[in-house]
Amino acid sequence: MGEIKHIGVLTSGGDAPGMNAAIRAVARNAIFHGMKVSGIFHGYNGMVRGEMEELTLRSVGKIISHGGTMLKSSRSEEFRTKEGRKQAFDHIQKLGIDALVIIGGDGSMRGAKIFQEEYDIPVIGLPGTIDNDLFGTDFTIGFDTAVNVAMECVDKIRDTATSHDRLFLVEVMGRDTGHIALRTSVASGAVAVLMPEDPMTIKELYDHLMYLKSNKKSSSIIIVAEGNPNGDAFEVATKLKEMKADYDTRVTVLGHIQRGGSPTASDRIRAAEMGAHAIECLLEGKRGVMVGIINQKLALTPIEKAVNMRSGFDQELYRISTQLSR
Ligand code: F6P
Repeated sequence: MGEIKHIGVLTSGGDAPGMNAAIRAVARNAIFHGMKVSGIFHGYNGMVRGEMEELTLRSVGKIISHGGTMLKSSRSEEFRTKEGRKQAFDHIQKLGIDALVIIGGDGSMRGAKIFQEEYDIPVIGLPGTIDNDLFGTDFTIGFDTAVNVAMECVDKIRDTATSHDRLFLVEVMGRDTGHIALRTSVASGAVAVLMPEDPMTIKELYDHLMYLKSNKKSSSIIIVAEGNPNGDAFEVATKLKEMKADYDTRVTVLGHIQRGGSPTASDRIRAAEMGAHAIECLLEGKRGVMVGIINQKLALTPIEKAVNMRSGFDQELYRISTQLSR
């Protein structure tokens, strides 16, 4: 493998706050080390279609505080096909790109893995998703912001819940995991959290609410992860009603509000560290790894492992949350 002179960087999958900070770090550290950098627009779709533009020190300026991604993103169907990936390779070869940095979630890492295998091009992954569901990092870029946004929303919802003695079911994102739900629940003092991992049944939830009622709790907030097996927050509300839970109940779905807004300091700093490290990895001849942060230290995990293994569920935090929600 010769010296890497030109890298391509893209963001893929759901946008996440802090992706811009990661792009900036990747581009600036690559330029610092004498490389040329091309931004690939609209994720893998842009690679298939040849949507690429050189990034400069200035073109990645003033984006660190912005949510979303300046490179735009997509969930690419075209890149799933062999023909699509061939077109993508032809485009990057034409431009002289000899390594890639892919910022995204598990789907994006799967794309990175297969592309590197097929075309033998060095790829470094950066975990960018609000879901925090990648193995090989304690925190993905965007997760901290999403939890803070959700927490602020629940704080506001609580004002109405308290004033009207209501039960609120607040649905947060997390198709396959309850990381956002659990941390939002602990940070906002919710009485229960429904998640795909360690799911609570409706009967258990009902019994818990009755226990709280007997302890004179007049208003309550339940956090529902969208991927929990009891159904979405509206379905959970209906099931509780069918059990004759005597509550004035309301449902709020936070949705994409959680994905937007200015990234927190933690997300910006982690994105800066991981983005800069991606370039250092390439310089050291590393490839096929995802940069992460484990126990507050930069760590590398083979992309294959990052996508095939499940990220740990915080059992200890869950245990504590059940003891506090009384
Ligand atoms: O993967 C991040 C995520 O925000 C999930 O939590 C959510 O289920 C999904 O993306 C929503 O995706 P879309 O914006 O494509 O509807």
